This record gives sequence, structure tokens and C-alpha cells, in this order.
Amino acid sequence: MESGQANSGVEKMSMQLMIPLLPCIQSRACVCGEEKMSLPPPSSFHYLSQRPQNYTPSLKLVNPMPKAFKALAFAPDSESGRLKNEVEENLHIRRKKLAVFVSGGGSNFKSLHEASLQGRIHGEVSVVVTDKPGCGGSEYANEKGIPVVCFPRRSSLPTALSPFDLITRLREFQVDFLLLAGFLKLVPVELVQAYPRSILNIHPSLLPSFGGKGYYGLKVHKAVIASGARYSGPTIHFVDEHFDTGRILAQRVVPVLAKDTPEELAARVLHEEHQLYVEVVEALCEERIVWRNDGVPLIRIKGRQDEYW
Ligand code: GRF
Repeated sequence: MESGQANSGVEKMSMQLMIPLLPCIQSRACVCGEEKMSLPPPSSFHYLSQRPQNYTPSLKLVNPMPKAFKALAFAPDSESGRLKNEVEENLHIRRKKLAVFVSGGGSNFKSLHEASLQGRIHGEVSVVVTDKPGCGGSEYANEKGIPVVCFPRRSSLPTALSPFDLITRLREFQVDFLLLAGFLKLVPVELVQAYPRSILNIHPSLLPSFGGKGYYGLKVHKAVIASGARYSGPTIHFVDEHFDTGRILAQRVVPVLAKDTPEELAARVLHEEHQLYVEVVEALCEERIVWRNDGVPLIRIKGRQDEYW
């Protein structure tokens, strides 16, 4: 269904408009190639966000270019083939619609939303789901004009949605992916089945350690410090019908320091969460998740056919 929609009339038209630009962008890349000393070394994943520090473009562009085109324009020759592939990859991919689930401050939601506004994520936050209508994440959504729906229904919040109604609502918003960002309720099995391989959660420890019911907020970091573990860090995993047991997709390591308080460790882990969640959702929206035969999901490195992280 998704790939069927990928070639809508509008996208076809924009592809036709962009493709003739390639020769001029490539020749600009050659101009940059003469100044190789001022270009940053290529790296596998972060390259698109880097710019040469002392490089002044000699060609003023009137119309804004998509991010991948900009990267191509600054690419050293050795990178241009790979980046050209990235451009071609993105042209065929439909922008995704995201539902973000929040219960707290919403800093992960905010970083995802900002990344989508900057064009780094090939998708948009279409709706926010919360069990706490007054939480920071919900208020941020209201400020930004993003629709908020309450879930799950309970006696203290009778206007919130049932699982069935939530699925109907998400379908109305044509949501592709559900992103849990500090959502404290268990996702019901109906939702898991309605969105197979399409729901992600971020957890502030290296799963499978320090996860499961009761491991949330500072409790996680207190347990990590008390255990004597020397490393912690966020995990992003697909969601199943239990807390924190779905397939692990990405992790990042944060050292636990000898004198860390739970708050200090939490702050360092949260900083990494913001980077990691954006990178993972970027890959998700660009359809770069690949499922290994044993059921482990991998993230394909952008512009590479057979390399993963
Ligand atoms: C994060 O630490 C996340 O890992 C966990 O809940 C926290 C949410 O923080 N699931 P925020 O609301 O995104 O600031």
C-alpha cells in the first residue's frame, strides 16, 4: 500500500523537476572538489549534517534545495556517487505520518518534531496521543497546533479513547508509525496487531537490563548506579504487548561515572536519546529498516546497499 502511494502525481512532478538539476549540482560538486583541503572527512552517517568550516559557496542558489541535494553540492568527488544514490533513494519515498505518544515533559517528542520541521526526518507529526492531557508533551503539541487525543479511557478520563477508537482515529490521520516517547501505559495488543513492526519505544537503559514494569524515570538510573554497571544508555526497540521486551533496533552507550547521581546520569542519557531517536526515525521514514532472518531489525546505512548499524 505504501509503495503504491509513493508515486502520487505531485511526487512524480517534483521528481521530473528535480532530475534536470542533477548535472548542474554535480558540476558544482566538482568545483568543491578543487577545494578538497577545506572539506570535512567523509563519515558514514553524519555527513549530511556537516559543512566545511571555511568554505564559501561560489554559487548562490535562489530556490531552496532538498537536504540531500545540498549535501551533494558540498560533497568531495569520492562521496558524490554515494550521495547521488541517497538523492535517488529519497525521491521515491513518500513522507511518513507519525503519531507520538507522550506522558511527560516531551523532550524527545520536541526533538523529533524539530527534526521533521528541519526536513531531517522525512515525515511529520500528525497527531499526539497522551494519557495525561496536561503534560508538557501535550502542551507543546497544543502550542504547535498538532492534534492531541487522549488514551486510554478510564473513569477519571471518560472522554479518552478505547483501543478500537484509537485505531480508527490513527487510521483517519493515515498514520504510518507510532513513536512512544515517555508514554507510561502499556500499549494494548489490539494496537500492536494493527501496526505490526510499526511501533517504536525509547527506553533509558541498555535493554534487556533495567527494563520492564516499574522501570521508568529516575528508578531506571538509580537501579543502574546501584548495580555497579559501568555503562548505560538509551535503547530504541519495536513494541510488543509487554513492557520493554520488543526487538531491539538501536542503542547508544553512555558511561556511568563513579560519582554520578541518578539525575546526572539521566541528563546524559537523555541527551543521547534526543540524537538517537532522531537518527532512528530518520531511517524509519526513509524505509531503511531491514529485518534479518532471525527477526532482528537492522538499520541500513544511507547510500550503502549492504551495510548496517
Ligand atoms: C525518556 O527518558 C525515555 O527514555 C523514557 O521516558 C523519558 C521521556 O522523557 N521512556 P521526555 O518526556 O521525552 O523528556
